[in-house]
Amino acid sequence: MAYNIAVLPGDGIGPEVMAQALKVLKVVEEKFNFKCNLTEGLIGGIAYDAAGHPLPEETKELCLKSDAIFLGSIGGPKWDNLPPELTPELGGLLAIRKLLKLYANIRPAVIYEELKEMSPLSARVLNKKVDFVTVRELAHGVYFGQPKGLTEDEGFDTMIYRRENVEQIAKAAFDLAMKRDKRVTSVDKANVLSSSKLWRKVVEEVAKDYPEVTLNHQYVDNAAMQLMLNPLQYDVILTTNLFGDILSDESAAICGSLGMLPSASYGEKISLYEPSGGSAPDIAGKDIANPIAQILSLAMMLESSFSEDEAAQEIRNAVDKAVKSGKRTGDIACGGPSIKCSEMGDVICNFIKEA
Ligand code: IPM
Ligand code: MG
Repeated sequence: MAYNIAVLPGDGIGPEVMAQALKVLKVVEEKFNFKCNLTEGLIGGIAYDAAGHPLPEETKELCLKSDAIFLGSIGGPKWDNLPPELTPELGGLLAIRKLLKLYANIRPAVIYEELKEMSPLSARVLNKKVDFVTVRELAHGVYFGQPKGLTEDEGFDTMIYRRENVEQIAKAAFDLAMKRDKRVTSVDKANVLSSSKLWRKVVEEVAKDYPEVTLNHQYVDNAAMQLMLNPLQYDVILTTNLFGDILSDESAAICGSLGMLPSASYGEKISLYEPSGGSAPDIAGKDIANPIAQILSLAMMLESSFSEDEAAQEIRNAVDKAVKSGKRTGDIACGGPSIKCSEMGDVICNFIKEA
C-alpha cells in the first residue's frame, strides 16, 4: 500500500524545513514498513516566478489526484505588490484551500516544559502544561463571502455562515474534543454580528449530540484576553475563519516560537498539512530555521490521513527527546548555543532509529 503525497515546499524557509521532514519520513517508512510516493509541485512566489501563477494548473492537478498535501510555506516581500489574485497568499494558499474545500484548520498549541522560558507569559500563569487546539473554520466566513469589492473609495467583504458550514466545523471540533479533555470553547461575536448569532445557535444544536462534552462560549475580544490571562482553561477552541486566524497567531506567540507548531487542514477527501509559522524570508536559505513544525505536521499527516499512528507517535517522541536533550535551533535557544536546521533533522532521525 503506497500513499500518494503532493509535496509543495513553497517559498522562504519552506524548502529547507521540508527537506528535514522528508528525511524523517524516509526513516519512518523503513521502520514502520509503509511506502509513500512523493511528487513535488510548485506553489507560492516560486510558482509565480517559474510558471506565472502562484497555483499553476499542474499543481492543481497534482493535488487533486493525491491522497494528502504536504506544504512548506508561501510568500515573501518579493511578491507583496503583485495584483491581489496573483499573490502567494490569495492566489496560492487561499486558492488551494478553496480547490480542496479545506474546511477545518487544526492548530495545536503546546508549551514544552523545557521551553517555558520562551513564552512571554510568566511562570505564575504557566503553572501547568498549556495544551490546547484551535479548530478554525477555513472555507467560509469573511474570507470567501460574496459580495466583496474594492474601488478607489470603498472596500467591503461579507461575513456569512450557513447552517451547514457551522455544523461541519462544529462536528470536527466536538469529535476532536472527544479524543481529548472533552471541553469546547466556541468563540464568536454574537453580541454584535448576525453570522455569529447563527454560529452560536448551530454550535449549541450540534453539542446536543455530544453529551459528554462541556461547551462554553466566549466573545472573541474576551477570548483574546483570556488567552493571555489563563490559557490553561482551554482544551478545544472552536472558531470562525477570521477569529481563528487571529487567535491562532496569539496562541502561537504564547508558546514562544512559531517554529514548533504544526497544523492540519481537513478537506472532505484530501487534507493538507503545513507548519503554522510563515515563510520567514529573513532567515531563509541559511539552514538556521526550526524544522520541528514541519516534522510535527508530518506526524499529523501520517496519523490523520493514513492512520499510521505508531509512526506519528514515534516522530512526536523523537521531537520530545530532541527538545529534552537540549538541542536547539536559534529560535528556541534562549540565547544559548544552537544547532542548524539540518542538524536538528538528523538528531530527530537518530532518535527514531534508536527507539
Ligand atoms: C494563516 C495565514 C493565511 C490566512 C494568509 C497567509 C492568507 O495567515 O494561514 O493563518 O490568513 O489564513
Ligand atoms: Mg494567519
